[in-house]
Amino acid sequence: MATPTGNRSFPEGFVWGTATASYQIEGAVDEGGRGQSIWDTFSHTPGRVLNGDTGDVACDHFHRYPADLALMGELGTGAYRFSFAWPRFQADGTGPLNPAGVDFYDRLIDGLLERNIIPYATMYHWDLPQALEDLGGWPNRDTAKRFADYAVAVHDRFSDRVDHWMTLNEPWCTAFLGYGAGVHAPGVTDESAALRAAHHLLVGHGLAVNEMRSAKPDGNYGIAINLYPVKAASDSAADIDAARRVDNIVNKVFLDPIFTGSYPADFLTDMEPFGPTDHMLDGDAELAGVPIDFVGINYYSAHTVRAARADDPEVFTDGSERDPAWIGATDVVKISTGAPRTAMDWEIVPEGLYETLSRVWNDYGQPTIFITENGAASHDVVGPDGTVDDRLRLDYLRDHFAEAHRAIEDGVGLAGYFVWSLLDNFEWALGYDRRFGLVHVDFETQKRTIKNSGLWYSSVTAANALPDGSEGSA
Ligand code: FCB
Repeated sequence: MATPTGNRSFPEGFVWGTATASYQIEGAVDEGGRGQSIWDTFSHTPGRVLNGDTGDVACDHFHRYPADLALMGELGTGAYRFSFAWPRFQADGTGPLNPAGVDFYDRLIDGLLERNIIPYATMYHWDLPQALEDLGGWPNRDTAKRFADYAVAVHDRFSDRVDHWMTLNEPWCTAFLGYGAGVHAPGVTDESAALRAAHHLLVGHGLAVNEMRSAKPDGNYGIAINLYPVKAASDSAADIDAARRVDNIVNKVFLDPIFTGSYPADFLTDMEPFGPTDHMLDGDAELAGVPIDFVGINYYSAHTVRAARADDPEVFTDGSERDPAWIGATDVVKISTGAPRTAMDWEIVPEGLYETLSRVWNDYGQPTIFITENGAASHDVVGPDGTVDDRLRLDYLRDHFAEAHRAIEDGVGLAGYFVWSLLDNFEWALGYDRRFGLVHVDFETQKRTIKNSGLWYSSVTAANALPDGSEGSA
């Protein structure tokens, strides 16, 4: 790996933060008039989540948020990215905001500001009110309208204290894991529904940004999308075409509409077998491509892919795999490159962060960028001496910070970096089995312990620089 050397300071004012999401940490699912979300339904459906885990209690952050604010203080982070739980505000996804929901986020936001921690709010991190799913969910266009109404009501209530707003977190996962592969809530497996969901997420994003901006023109409005470099395993025409199809369904399906207002033409051609496009209406291009003030990039790994071969096995034994969420490319094989992996089984590819940042900056009009998520899972344990030695995460972050630094040196307008995650939490379909926190959570006792990576991160935030001896491991 190319490791940058020299001055490793980050620009003055660079934002260091941590990120979480409501359903993954809050618990208290039946309190304060909160309605049911699709993740309550999904996690309570046998067989959907590893070990039958649910978010019923999670990190009990709804009650323990003061302790969590104190932890952010110890980490020295100047910013915190969290998400609002839609069903805490509108139990059925519509109507006036529930005062108990407002009250919780009032206290959270005020607590952040008291500690000089700047709130970065995500409006939707996957906890759709079940009542809206019952009306068709994201494949139903009306959900986009409901989302915009909810977003603007929440924005009205908190925009006196919150300046940075992300409409959606990873709409890719909502559409293609939720309605395509069916491994996330609501667990639907229908390509056409997934493509409609993707489109309506873009429509909802555009409607929400327009309404929020007209209410407060000087706010900062954006979206958080997950991106992956996609490389062809060889320069054969078949492999290059496989990489093209994967790049379209993984990256360009959102990047292009958001920054250019239209889907790639070859993507639309490739999607023809998967249903009609009569859900795409006049004016949608303008909504999807609504001007934004920043883009949030969630980066974890990279894909190297090749075309299917006649003698491919059903199931690979070397770590290679196909992805049922890659509509139009479910035949493509993601090969194992031999790179080390995290506990998610995701290959560790720090230079892929540099490539992703550079690509968005160079190909999509030099937007202001925040890394809104980056981090690593491992099976961390509290040792006999009370510390958590999570070397893998520390190395992972150090190597990714170095690549972010390299991108900044090369001119990319990267404004901040949010580590996923503040706390070990409910990792969706994998329950509590994969730990991403800078802070260890004992889910029996709710005891929090800052891991060694968290202690190290506090030295980065304090110095606004990679400390000496951070030259990378490779
Ligand atoms: C992202 C999600 C986040 C978390 C990380 C590991 O896809 O946005 O909630 O689960 O992955």
